[in-house]
Amino acid sequence: MAEYFEFMETATIESWLKAGFEAAFPGNDFSNVTALPATDSKFGDFQCNNALASAKILRLPPRAIAEQVYAKLVESQPNFISKLELAGPGFLNITVSEEWLAEQLSKLDRDENTGIEQVGKSKKVVIDYSSPNAAKQMHIGHIRSTVIGNAIDRLYRSIGYDVIADNHLGDWGTQFGILIKGYRECLTQEERDNLTVANLEKCYVLSAAKAKEDEAWKNSCREELVKLQKGDEENVALWKAFIEISIEEFNRMYKRLGVKFDTYRGESYYNSMMASVVDRLVESKLAEPSEGALIVKFEEEGLPIAIVRKSDGGFNYTTSDVACVESRIKDYDPAEIIYVTDDRQQLHFKQFFIICAKMGMKAKLVHVPFGLMSYGGKAISTREGNLIKLDDLLEEAVRRSKNIVLERTPDCPNADELAEQIGFGAVKYADLSHDPATAIDFNWDKALALEGNSGPYLQYAYARVCSLIEKYSQLPDAKPLSEGEFVLSSNVEKQLALQLLQFGPSVLRAARAYKPSVLADYLFQTAQLYSSFYQRSPVLKAEAQVRDSRIRLCALFGKVLSNGLHILGIETPERI
Ligand code: ARG
Repeated sequence: MAEYFEFMETATIESWLKAGFEAAFPGNDFSNVTALPATDSKFGDFQCNNALASAKILRLPPRAIAEQVYAKLVESQPNFISKLELAGPGFLNITVSEEWLAEQLSKLDRDENTGIEQVGKSKKVVIDYSSPNAAKQMHIGHIRSTVIGNAIDRLYRSIGYDVIADNHLGDWGTQFGILIKGYRECLTQEERDNLTVANLEKCYVLSAAKAKEDEAWKNSCREELVKLQKGDEENVALWKAFIEISIEEFNRMYKRLGVKFDTYRGESYYNSMMASVVDRLVESKLAEPSEGALIVKFEEEGLPIAIVRKSDGGFNYTTSDVACVESRIKDYDPAEIIYVTDDRQQLHFKQFFIICAKMGMKAKLVHVPFGLMSYGGKAISTREGNLIKLDDLLEEAVRRSKNIVLERTPDCPNADELAEQIGFGAVKYADLSHDPATAIDFNWDKALALEGNSGPYLQYAYARVCSLIEKYSQLPDAKPLSEGEFVLSSNVEKQLALQLLQFGPSVLRAARAYKPSVLADYLFQTAQLYSSFYQRSPVLKAEAQVRDSRIRLCALFGKVLSNGLHILGIETPERI
């Protein structure tokens, strides 16, 4: 928790608190003493609960501990602490001075990272996300990995990490035998000449259906696969073409969503490394033969076995992911590798993480599992007939947003651009505002609501601040926004100031927890607080000095909101 306040120099609040604990109870470890933001402003600005936490170790009632610490703290109270109170079972409530807070705001405003501590400096992280299977169109089920993965990618970049965003395409396996056969026999010459992912998907479905009822067809698919695996020129060329077309199509989607990958190393990339991985697994006795296959047991961990080489000699998903970790460590030496996939793959990740650890691989491996997404209350499945293509979902988002834009501004000159920014923002935020681990239901009305916890609500809040700043700048006696001071003249201003100072710590917490929702929650709360400040405190109509300081607070809010939304991958138009 210490990083929570470093930017605000609560390091000083904390060092004062720590010193108080140490003076009252010498010889004990109080390194975990912290000041948390108060849950209710009537208790002050910060609260320290460590008297309660220390009761067991010190074998004293928490209140008695707090009393003794309180006595020491009062003796050494720094100037910027305006009030210290002892409350309830042993809480220490702290109020800071307005001047100190104003000074912290100026620092935040000047800081090039807006208070985000660069804890990732000179560290690398690989983030494996989106990772769709080639030769299939992306559908609504792919949105979560792409959107959550990209937000984690941006979060890590924002805290200073060198991020390698890797799209681990499903570009190898039995489906390619079926595809090659289908390509040759189920498509017209014209379709083959103008190959699209939609056609690839179509010929796959046809060919797979035939393979089910026709033994000869099935064998022929298998032969094509064997030829491909043996490096047959024609089949390899086809496979390459399929992958290229798929990537092109995926990139079209990524471009719209503002998602960029550094590498597209799919499963096939690790193909040549798998035999040696398995050899080493056998050598180190991690893998053992079983009914012609090679398996790894997880008796200690209480997990089912994983097959690392099938009885036909083929390798599988586990083997490929172990080879992949080894290769990433060799190429990048990352501190961490983060995987974003749906939660049905949890066992797979647990298993290969254990194998990697037992093989002595050093990187920290993290799986960020997300829950399923349903659509309008229904599971997304072919049977429900709502296996919506991602393309169509995005189109629908744009269509609906354009209506909203035109309703408000019928002659809006850049309605199309705005519709994309708002529509995609809505789709992304609808996902990111939930803890990734939970299942979510996508609902257009909620996603596009202008009131309430939605992307468009936050985008509007930003656009309103921009328009306020513009009005201010047209005043004859307007000052440049970087000049002057922050003066916090009311309680709600002070609340907003305290909240803005929590931006960096919230970004850090979101990154450390792999939960963009922590940042989304923070931004929504901040926007609400801003709106109650704005309702209660006139800005442009206030007397000049108050006005100049309030507009700076508004501008700082705008900066925090816009930076925060960008970290979530959401655009912030200045005018809506
Ligand atoms: N292609 C897989 C899927 O569609 C996801 C791959 C995730 N990454 C990994 N290294 N296993 O489910």
